[in-house]
Amino acid sequence: MAPVQDARHGEGSPPITNNGSGEEQLHKKYRVTIVGSGNWGSVAAKLIASNTIKLPAFHDEVRMWVYEETLPTGQKLTEAINRSNENVKYLPGIKLGKNVVADPDLEHAVRDANMLVFVTPHQFVEGICKRLVGNIRGDAEAISLIKGMEVKMEGPCMISTLITEMLGINCCVLMGANIANEIAVEKFSEATVGYRENREVAQRWVRLFSTHYFIVSPVQDVEGVELCGTLKNVVAIAAGLVDGMDMGNNTKAAIMRIGLREMRTFSKLMFSSVKDSTFFESCGIADLITTCLGGRNRKVAEAYARNGGKRSFDELEAELLQGQKLQGVSTAKEVYEVLSHRGWEELFPLFTTVHEISIGRLPPCAIVEYSEHKPNFSLVEGSAQYY
Ligand SMILES: NC(=O)c1ccc[n+]([C@@H]2O[C@H](COP(=O)([O-])OP(=O)(O)OC[C@H]3O[C@@H](n4cnc5c(N)ncnc54)[C@H](O)[C@@H]3O)[C@@H](O)[C@H]2O)c1
Repeated sequence: MAPVQDARHGEGSPPITNNGSGEEQLHKKYRVTIVGSGNWGSVAAKLIASNTIKLPAFHDEVRMWVYEETLPTGQKLTEAINRSNENVKYLPGIKLGKNVVADPDLEHAVRDANMLVFVTPHQFVEGICKRLVGNIRGDAEAISLIKGMEVKMEGPCMISTLITEMLGINCCVLMGANIANEIAVEKFSEATVGYRENREVAQRWVRLFSTHYFIVSPVQDVEGVELCGTLKNVVAIAAGLVDGMDMGNNTKAAIMRIGLREMRTFSKLMFSSVKDSTFFESCGIADLITTCLGGRNRKVAEAYARNGGKRSFDELEAELLQGQKLQGVSTAKEVYEVLSHRGWEELFPLFTTVHEISIGRLPPCAIVEYSEHKPNFSLVEGSAQYY
């Protein structure tokens, strides 16, 4: 797909300084809506709200679309958030900022916004975008914090591309070593914004998210940043499996190295524009490490291995994550569909094995049987250069 050019803000515009005192401030105020309100969505709301209230380029109010749920108390989640200023289900104990307004009506929540932050589990994005067609501002820009991809007949479709194609708007991405609960309590971390063409738009997103404890850097490589964030969840499943079999740190480090190699090869075979340097940004190696040490995919995969593969990932997800969604298993399936369609399974032994374990075709211990699963470079001409 051709990159979407932002005709409203040309590349030749003067640079914007970090206090937001550039050209945009004189002409326009930006209004932000967050589409999604889970664990990460709520932390994103907190980060953003702390900035919109300070920076003159943005309207103070941040709208957050909430997929409405009824709590065990009988109260609506939206009402509870607006009353307590906390997402009592997905981020209890953390104040979001008084300028965050929870809104259960999707079309209403986005109506006035020209900065849309997409942060829902990836399986819901297509349905949400269908509802948004014709209901967003003509000058809207988007950013996706979503990990995952859709697999279409012609190959993988990244979530940012899906948003761009369905809504006709430019879409950046933000990914990084960002376990939401740690950022919620303001522990230092970093993130990467991936952008396509327009650095000025990327800088605006950087300003919207950056705080003294959350350092954000722009990189001109949307696909590289997004694929890093997406594929590391598959590696985290493998890391959880080795934890569940008490295999120790050397094994886990080996899994992470093999996983990073497959992430890079897959990304570069899919998009030749992907840069090697992206894998050294927060979205690459740092996110891989944190997800393999502490994320939800690792946790559920560990439980899967401890149960000898006898309890399904779906069952363990429901039990251990209480409404939060696991991404690694569905991403492994999506990646496998791409690999099997192209006959590349032997080139990606770790990705393939994670999928086969997750559907019960192989036992958890298969994750370390690599002597029989060396990548077969001859499958794709020139692929050895990516290893
Ligand atoms: N949590 C993290 O630490 C973290 C960090 C970085 C990125 N992410 C990514 O952010 C994205 C969102 O994750 P999260 O942690 O905010 O969510 P979550 O898994 O905590 O919560 C699930 C969300 O989905 C909503 N939902 C349930 N059914 C729905 C439906 N039918 N339609 C629309 N929404 C529905 C729920 O209301 C809830 O807001 C994911 O792609 C995830 O990989 C998460």
